[in-house]
Amino acid sequence: MSTSPQTVAMTQAVTQEAMQSFAKATDPRLAQVMSLLVKHLHAFVAESKLTKEEWLRGLDFLNACAAITTEERNEFSLFSDIMGISSMVDVVSQPEGGTPSSVLGPFHNHDSLLRDNGVDLTNGQPGERVWFHGRVVDTHGHPIAHAQIDFWQNADNGLYPAQDPEQDPHNLRCKIVCDADGGFNLLTIRPHPYTVPTDGPVGALLAASQRNIWRPAHYHLIVSAPGYVGLVTELFPKGSDYIDNDTVFGVRPGLIVPFVPCSNSAVAQRFGLEAPFFETTYEFQLVKQASAQD
Ligand code: BEZ
Ligand code: FE
Repeated sequence: MSTSPQTVAMTQAVTQEAMQSFAKATDPRLAQVMSLLVKHLHAFVAESKLTKEEWLRGLDFLNACAAITTEERNEFSLFSDIMGISSMVDVVSQPEGGTPSSVLGPFHNHDSLLRDNGVDLTNGQPGERVWFHGRVVDTHGHPIAHAQIDFWQNADNGLYPAQDPEQDPHNLRCKIVCDADGGFNLLTIRPHPYTVPTDGPVGALLAASQRNIWRPAHYHLIVSAPGYVGLVTELFPKGSDYIDNDTVFGVRPGLIVPFVPCSNSAVAQRFGLEAPFFETTYEFQLVKQASAQD
């Protein structure tokens, strides 16, 4: 059904008025963001011809997200993730050049322990051993001495410590400081694909939409150094299930890494491994902060 000229005129008037209502915000960025948000949300309502019942269902959905949200579990973040909003923010806010960023996810722990560069995180647990090493460099390829890496991943059962009371809260996670050449290495295990939480309203939305609920296997990393823009990213083992269908849209071509068999005897001896084990390497490129450009 086409929209009458009178209805179009009325919708435009409401949109104009609502956009203008934010113009006096003391923070000009708040005025800009809110008026753009109004513009695009109104366009969505007009284009979809949203019914009152649908609008009420939307409000019910947001109320259900609020009801299940706690300190440990934020259903609104998950909604942002599965809508691709978190990924869009990553993409548009990332500086030009450098390693692509990717989603932080809900399982980062600010209190991760500082461990020695070269740490063995495996502690006798099941899982294929992976020697993960590389460098942190600037966008010219020059090493960044003593950059910090914050690393976390899930265990061989696909769970993070927050989801698994059997795991030590510090299992398979650490902070390490790179050497003077930006080099780092650690021993860990192969990560596994896992599903986002599906017991709340976002899970119901995914089910109703017949959407995939899985993420591909990944390592999470935050790489930082004074004077450089901090990098929140992930690395995905090449060939992982769901690598072409990540339910939170975090995979970027530059973040897919091969896990190759390795028989380096010095490494095998250092970590007490039987060769072959797996090896993966990565060079993280950080972008200088605007104030620190040379
Ligand atoms: C994760 O990678 O751990 C994750 C990211 C987004 C939503 C849920 C989990
Ligand atoms: Fe994750």
